[in-house]
Amino acid sequence: MAVIDLIKGRSSCRNFSDKSIDESIVNSIVEAGRLAPSAKNRQPWRFIIISEENRKNRLLEACFGADVIKTADKIVAVCTTNINYVMPNGQNAHDMDLSIATSFMMLQAEHEGLGSCIVTTYNEEMIRELLTVPFSMRVYCLLALGYKGDTAEIKKERKSFQDVHNMEHW
Ligand SMILES: Cc1cc2nc3c(=O)[nH]c(=O)nc-3n(C[C@H](O)[C@H](O)[C@H](O)COP(=O)(O)O)c2cc1C
Repeated sequence: MAVIDLIKGRSSCRNFSDKSIDESIVNSIVEAGRLAPSAKNRQPWRFIIISEENRKNRLLEACFGADVIKTADKIVAVCTTNINYVMPNGQNAHDMDLSIATSFMMLQAEHEGLGSCIVTTYNEEMIRELLTVPFSMRVYCLLALGYKGDTAEIKKERKSFQDVHNMEHW
């Protein structure tokens, strides 16, 4: 499928079915993140895949019981390994780096026929402890993965093409 069609077809999934995801598919998603571009090619990421029932239950607590985590088959914790690189434009590189890696993983999940959802509503300290993330690193976001459940998500509207771009100047 053309990338633009994957993008058009994707929407966040917060209700997954019971079907589990094969390891090879999970690996292909992580591979998509691994191959993402990053500032100075520093690749400041560590992807932690969570699938053990006990750990998922504790993760669910840290995410305030959200359905998206409750029903997900696998959850990828997208963590920083290094947050000290400031780009020449004055911005922290890891924000962009990890966002791009997460986007690549979402698109690969879509390509594999999975649903996904970025989750940032959590107590980071609880997750840090649960996943033994070193003190100086951040848990940037979670990416919930699974086969789509029966409850259809309402497709979110976007601003019009006209509203989001200009030619030559603001
Ligand atoms: C940075 C970021 C943080 C998000 N955090 C959450 C979250 O904590 N919980 C959640 O259910 N969805 C979360 N989402 C999903 C957004 O709500 C969703 O992408 C947005 O409403 C657009 O809908 P769509 O993905 O279906 O197109 C997040 C998305 C992004 C990009």
